[in-house]
Amino acid sequence: MNIAFKKVAVIGAGAMGRGIAQIAAQAGSQVDLYDTQSEASFKALEAVHKVWDSLLAKGRIDEKTLATYKSNLKTATSLQDLKDCELIVEAIVERLDIKKSLFAELENLVPETTVLATNTSSLSVTAIAAGLKRPAQFAGYHFFNPVPLMKVVEVIAGLQTNPDVCIRLTEFAKQMGHTAVQANDTPGFIVNHAGRGYGTEALRIVSENVADFATIDRILKDQVGFKLGPFELFDLTALDVSHPVMESIYNQYYQEPRYRPSVITAQRLAGGVIGKKVGEGFYKYIDGKAVVSPEPAVPDVKDFPPVWVSPRASRRLELLQLLKDLGANIETGASPSPHALTLVAPLGFDVTTVAVVERLDPARTIGIDMLFDDAATKRRVLATNPATRSDMRDAAHALFAKDGKAVSVVRDSGGFVTQRVVANIVNIASDMCQQGVCTPQDLDIAVTLGLGYPVGPLALGDKLGPTNILEVLFNLQTVYGDPRYRPSPWLRRRGAIGLSLLHTED
Ligand code: NAI
Repeated sequence: MNIAFKKVAVIGAGAMGRGIAQIAAQAGSQVDLYDTQSEASFKALEAVHKVWDSLLAKGRIDEKTLATYKSNLKTATSLQDLKDCELIVEAIVERLDIKKSLFAELENLVPETTVLATNTSSLSVTAIAAGLKRPAQFAGYHFFNPVPLMKVVEVIAGLQTNPDVCIRLTEFAKQMGHTAVQANDTPGFIVNHAGRGYGTEALRIVSENVADFATIDRILKDQVGFKLGPFELFDLTALDVSHPVMESIYNQYYQEPRYRPSVITAQRLAGGVIGKKVGEGFYKYIDGKAVVSPEPAVPDVKDFPPVWVSPRASRRLELLQLLKDLGANIETGASPSPHALTLVAPLGFDVTTVAVVERLDPARTIGIDMLFDDAATKRRVLATNPATRSDMRDAAHALFAKDGKAVSVVRDSGGFVTQRVVANIVNIASDMCQQGVCTPQDLDIAVTLGLGYPVGPLALGDKLGPTNILEVLFNLQTVYGDPRYRPSPWLRRRGAIGLSLLHTED
């Protein structure tokens, strides 16, 4: 194989540098690993050797491959040792001044053709390149932790990067077994930018007392298929990492309301309750396992009231079929009888508003989230309004749990939980396309591989119907009067034809 870079250096032998060095050596490059702390490079080399030894033990590589890998990776003792390298990837401390002075020094050592790359996750590639003699030879190469397992890398062009440099880095990524996506130099690049919709909106929902964090985690895992709920994810990443990222992206975008961080994480960070690594975050951890309080039991209901469904309910036919399957006594009149449980299924609007607008008795009115097809989810979510009678709430809870599916009852807020979070994810992704951060295709690939979402945000929008997402956003904007729910122009235009389709515009 014609390897894109035969001689590679990785500077910084921490969590990221050692991973990058490992996959570059596996691809067949001669790799030098350098760190100002020489013991850090030795430790990293030892750790990578251990990984390779275990691959041999598992039969995933043979003795000859192991020997080749090991001979491809060396430690370097000074920057001078790196002077013949064709590619130098930096993974040192996240400080603009230190990174800039390192690259200025390297530029004086290496040939003009050497490609210099930074693994920065939050600094501007253009800002790091500013002042370099050859900014055209400089790019971002943003990997994810742990590098060998997270098989995606963002190739980031700064303002002056030569496109050929990005092409070579992309080719090299493939040779290392990774998928490269192209990002423009914007705050958070692709993955950290697209990830803003999930946690921030979930924090918003908690801060409004709509549901507690464990309920929100359950809902988003069961209804959308996320592997981890937003609060489980916060605990895993730890707030000393994720809260500053939220603040940084918000401020780099000059207080764009869509990325507004939350006082909840600011306070928890100040209090040191930052996540699993300290034994307590949103959840408490005993022996590394989260303590999760049990869900409220399904109420014991003997006599179910008849059920009337609003003619304006979303997925009304599916809802009626579901009620039939659950054995409900369905009313067919133009308005509910005096005893009927009254069901509404709004998109974006709160149950209270719907009850008022449709002139329904709020004491008997309950909302159900029908954004997703019921058959495609593992949980149903109901919302009460402040006037809902407890017998009506219990009847609805017990009725929708009759077939054994999990049910959560949340407070009225507009958009339940899933609608708010999903609409935000799709809207932020759409706005990234509007800004030209990347192509729609690269966005979905990067988010699926980098964040482990079940589908990319744009494909998710297509699956649920872009017009439904738009309706959620328009109505949330009305309910909250908050510009964070303002739909991106891209979503409004592309909604009509499909978000994830390859289009001549892309
Ligand atoms: P780390 O703290 O594990 O390792 C950094 C290493 O760089 C240390 O061994 C340190 O001794 C060395 N170092 C510091 N200044 C140096 C210098 N001037 N010259 C040579 N070596 C120097 O850090 P980590 O997590 O590996 O992060 C490195 C870079 O990768 C940062 O820019 C970070 O933002 C970025 N990044 C980190 C991710 C993560 O999840 N940890 C994910 C993606 C990017």
